[in-house]
Amino acid sequence: MNFWPHTPKMKRVLTSSESLLSIRLFSKNAPHVILIFAGPYPTSGLQFLKDKGASMDEIHTLLKPSPGVQNVAAAMENLLLAAANMGYGGCWMTGPNYASEEICEVIGFEKEGYYLACMTPMGVPESFDVNQPPRKAVDDVTTFI
Ligand SMILES: Cc1cc2nc3c(=O)[nH]c(=O)nc-3n(C[C@H](O)[C@H](O)[C@H](O)COP(=O)(O)O)c2cc1C
Repeated sequence: MNFWPHTPKMKRVLTSSESLLSIRLFSKNAPHVILIFAGPYPTSGLQFLKDKGASMDEIHTLLKPSPGVQNVAAAMENLLLAAANMGYGGCWMTGPNYASEEICEVIGFEKEGYYLACMTPMGVPESFDVNQPPRKAVDDVTTFI
């Protein structure tokens, strides 16, 4: 299995930076962590394009929306919304993925072709009093045609 970061040097940089670690360890007291793994996603149309001799550019264009990753994102969002509705709190995280290899070793995860996509700590928040940044205007985030 190939894990990110791919080089020992990159991993040293990521694990030695105190500011990065403090960002990733803020939830270390949470009683649970939910790890989301992604597996191979057979994009419909890929084999068809290959059989028709499509170029790498054409194949890249088909794969660009990454439907497999979109599935994971939807699952995580639904999980966080359901948890919040039940009074629990989480934080969608990919930052700690640099330690994917160690995490898989610790939990004994060995499913070929699967990789750690994201995770969330899960627990009862100390406070629900969070500062919500101002929302962008609808016109700033949408284009109506
Ligand atoms: C894909 C993804 C990965 C994220 N990874 C992290 C992370 O590793 N650490 C972290 O503190 N927040 C991470 N976040 C942000 C939090 O989940 C959350 O969105 C953010 O703290 C909300 O705060 P905001 O209202 O200031 O954006 C990530 C969000 C997304 C969508």
